[in-house]
Amino acid sequence: MQISDQAPDYIRAIAPYQPGKPIADIARAYGFREDQVVKLASNENPLGMSPKAQMAMQEAARDLGRYPDGNGFDLKAALVARFGLQPEQITLGNGSNDILEMVAHAFLRPGTESVMSAHAFAVYALASQAVGARLVVVPAKPADLGHDLEAMAKAVTPATTVVWLANPNNPTGSFIPGDQIHAFIRAMPASVLVVLDEAYTEYLPPEDRYPALDWVQEFPNLLVSRSFSKAYGLAGLRVGYGVASTLVTDLLNRVRQPFNVNSLAQAAAAAALSDHEFLDRSYALNRAGITQLTEGLASFGIACLPSWGNFVLADLSQLPQPGQRSGQALFEALLAAGVITRPVQGYGLPAHLRISVGTRDENAALLRAMPQALARLAASAAPATRAGG
Ligand SMILES: Cc1ncc(COP(=O)(O)O)c(C=O)c1O
Repeated sequence: MQISDQAPDYIRAIAPYQPGKPIADIARAYGFREDQVVKLASNENPLGMSPKAQMAMQEAARDLGRYPDGNGFDLKAALVARFGLQPEQITLGNGSNDILEMVAHAFLRPGTESVMSAHAFAVYALASQAVGARLVVVPAKPADLGHDLEAMAKAVTPATTVVWLANPNNPTGSFIPGDQIHAFIRAMPASVLVVLDEAYTEYLPPEDRYPALDWVQEFPNLLVSRSFSKAYGLAGLRVGYGVASTLVTDLLNRVRQPFNVNSLAQAAAAAALSDHEFLDRSYALNRAGITQLTEGLASFGIACLPSWGNFVLADLSQLPQPGQRSGQALFEALLAAGVITRPVQGYGLPAHLRISVGTRDENAALLRAMPQALARLAASAAPATRAGG
């Protein structure tokens, strides 16, 4: 018997999350200066954070000897003012990842099931497995690799307590129109919590937006989670929020760490919410970047799935040489040029590569590195697919 045997089998079976490679690691490994490395691997905002958020954070940094406000009064007030919510409907998280974990702790346990789509965000599986629930993965729609809502509804059983929906989804970039989501929630049994993960919602074009936060009044079994890591540019601070009925919020608060969101994050997030100019600029840069990457990659024979997020999913399966059709191999070839992307074989997509939208120059650096990377792979044998990612 060794100490690791004491962990339940379902914990030992977890494959750890593989984050995007940090710039410093690649600079060290390949002998680049850090400013020579371009990171398009973690769906961050290439503009960094809003100047207003930066100022609010610096102000808050004067008082770090004290614990943060465990109830996040000011940030909740800012969310209430911005979205017309009640403070009792809001749960703050150390990133929206924290909200997803709280859901798993509060609503899942051995003997229960959670339902997710194939190729959906990895944390739904991790959070479910960590509490011993059975994970039911529903095949995605072949056309866009997005959620098949009809099949997901059919996968719900009396043991199901949570259904995870990512809209838009990472890593596929796929999007489900709001009316379909609404109909799906309406058809769910009241005993099933629908988690609608809207980490990328600020990137939706105006015509695709839908009022999910209003639906929380209508459905006591809906939780909408949102992030400050993406369009708001606060990924390093770790802050997100969940909006739900008081029935759900009350339970999440029972499993929440007392001081889960730090003071800098709370101050920056509250200020970021009202920096509309920064959000507009981030949105516009992202739309332009998606066009730049999609058109640029098309010129090398690589199609991208339509994306509603701040990244594109490049499909390598139509490239002429077998050695070019591996996301892992292209990722490695691009690293040698100082460009970090994200292989997604861990998502069941070995012939795809996820590329986050950068600045115009960063996107151009990726496109410049492409011919040599592809040429190198054309000359190599088809590599074996590795696990992870
Ligand atoms: C779909 C989705 N949900 C949630 C998250 C978690 O983001 P965070 O914890 O930074 O808010 C991510 C991060 O990549 C994501 O892609």
